[in-house]
Amino acid sequence: MAGDSRIDPWSSQQSTDYERIRDNFGLSDIELSKIPNPSLLHRRGIIFAHRDLDTILERIKLGAEFGVLTGLMPSGKMHLGHSMVINQVKWFQDQGGDVTVTVADLEALATRNVSLEEGRKIAISEYINNYAAMGLDPDKTNVYFQSRRPEVQRLGFTLGQKTNLSEFESIYGFSGETNLAHVQAPLVQAGDIVHPQLDKFGGLRPIVVPVGVDQDPHIRLTRGLVGKTNWFNVKKRKSGGLTISLSVQEENKSVMGVSPNGGINRDVRIQLIEKIKSCLAKIGFADLIPNPKHGTIEIPGATSFDIGKIKLSLLALERKIGGMGLMPPSSTYHRFVVGMTGDKMSSSKPETTIFMHDSIEQMSRKVRRAFSGGQATVEEHRRLGGDLSKDVAYQYLQYFFEDSDEELESIGRDYESGRILAGEIKQICIDRAAEWLTDLSEKRNQWTDQITDFLSKDSE
Ligand code: TRP
Repeated sequence: MAGDSRIDPWSSQQSTDYERIRDNFGLSDIELSKIPNPSLLHRRGIIFAHRDLDTILERIKLGAEFGVLTGLMPSGKMHLGHSMVINQVKWFQDQGGDVTVTVADLEALATRNVSLEEGRKIAISEYINNYAAMGLDPDKTNVYFQSRRPEVQRLGFTLGQKTNLSEFESIYGFSGETNLAHVQAPLVQAGDIVHPQLDKFGGLRPIVVPVGVDQDPHIRLTRGLVGKTNWFNVKKRKSGGLTISLSVQEENKSVMGVSPNGGINRDVRIQLIEKIKSCLAKIGFADLIPNPKHGTIEIPGATSFDIGKIKLSLLALERKIGGMGLMPPSSTYHRFVVGMTGDKMSSSKPETTIFMHDSIEQMSRKVRRAFSGGQATVEEHRRLGGDLSKDVAYQYLQYFFEDSDEELESIGRDYESGRILAGEIKQICIDRAAEWLTDLSEKRNQWTDQITDFLSKDSE
C-alpha cells in the first residue's frame, strides 16, 4: 500500500544496510542452518529477516500442514520485484505448504481507483498467468478475490474491534486527513492473512506470509490483533516451566466463569480448568498446579520448546468452546533489489525494472543502459576491476537469472578482477534474461486456457 508505512525500506537500500533495517523493524535474523534443503533464495541472502519462521520450519520438518498466503494488488504490470515473493511462495509450496493468493481488488478499488472488473482482468492476465508460468501448482493453489469472500471482510470487521485510530496513527502515520479507504484496507488485509485458518478454508494451522519489508506494518498489526483475540496465554514462569493464564474478554466472560457483576463463578471456572488439564494430559503434561481463582495453570515440567504445541492444543480447545482460536501469522522478508537505473524499482518507471511481458528487445535496451559497477575507462577497469555491489547486471544474475552458483561465482570473480568488462557482463545478463523471458512466455501460453484451475469456487 502506498504511503502506509513511515519507514521507507528503499532509503536504506543503497547502503545495503540490512542489519539496520532489520533492527529498526525489530526483526530477528534468519537462521540459515535451520532451513532444510536450502534454496537459492536463502543461499543468496534474498530473504534477510522473518517473524516466527521457526513455527513453519518445524512443520516442514514434521511433514505437518501449514499454509502460505500472498496477496497482489491488481494494478499495473507484474515485474521482477513482484517475482521475488512468488519465488518464495513456490519454495514454501515445494516444502508442502498449501497456497492462498489474495487478489486485493477491494484495496485496489479503494486506494487506486481500479474497478472490480478491471482488477479481475489485470489479476488474471498480468499476475496469475505469470504465477502459473513460474511453477505454482494449481492443485495446491487457491486464488480468491477480496470482494467475493465475505468471510474475509467479516473477519476484518471482527478484528477491527481489537484496535483503534490511535494504533493506526502510530503504525501507519495516519492523521485527520487520511482517506478512510486507507483505514479499511489494512483491516481487510488482516482478514486476508488470518482467514485460511478458518475451518472452511483449511482450519487451524500456521500460516506464513512472504512479503517485502514494506508490508511488515500489516504483519505486526495482524499479529497484535490475533494476540488480543486469544483466550489463553502461555508464558515462561520465572522459576522455570510455563504458566497458562486465562484472557477474560467481553465475549468470553461466561465461559471463563466471570459473572456479570465481576465475581468468579467457581464451578464454571473449575470445569474450564478441567478441560485445559485434559488437553495438556493428551500432549503429555500431567504435573500441573491449577489456581482457579487467579485463572492460571502452571506447568513446572514444560520448557520453552513446548510452547508451540501447548498453544496449538489450547487454540483447538478455544475453538471448541466458542472462541476463534487463531495463530499469529509468520512472515519472511525479502530484499529490495536495486532498480536498473540505480534508483528504486517502480512499476511507474518502466526503465527501472523488467516486466514479465517485456520483449527481448525492451529488456536488452534496459540492461545496456543499466547502472554499472564498471570503471570509467577500459584501462582502469582492467586495473581496478568492477564493483559487484553496484552492478545491476551482476545483481540481476544473482537474484533472478543465473541458477548455477558456480557460474555466478566465476562471473563475479572475472568481473571483479577486471577480466570481463561492463559491456560483457551486461551481455551475459541479457543472454540469461532472454532465456528466462522466453521460457516464461512459453509457459504462460501453455496455461492461458487453464488458468481457471487456480481460481477458487467463490471467485466466479
Ligand atoms: N497491501 C498489499 C499491496 O499493497 C496487497 C495485499 C492485500 C496483501 N492483502 C494481502 C499482501 C495479504 C500480502 C498479504 O501489495
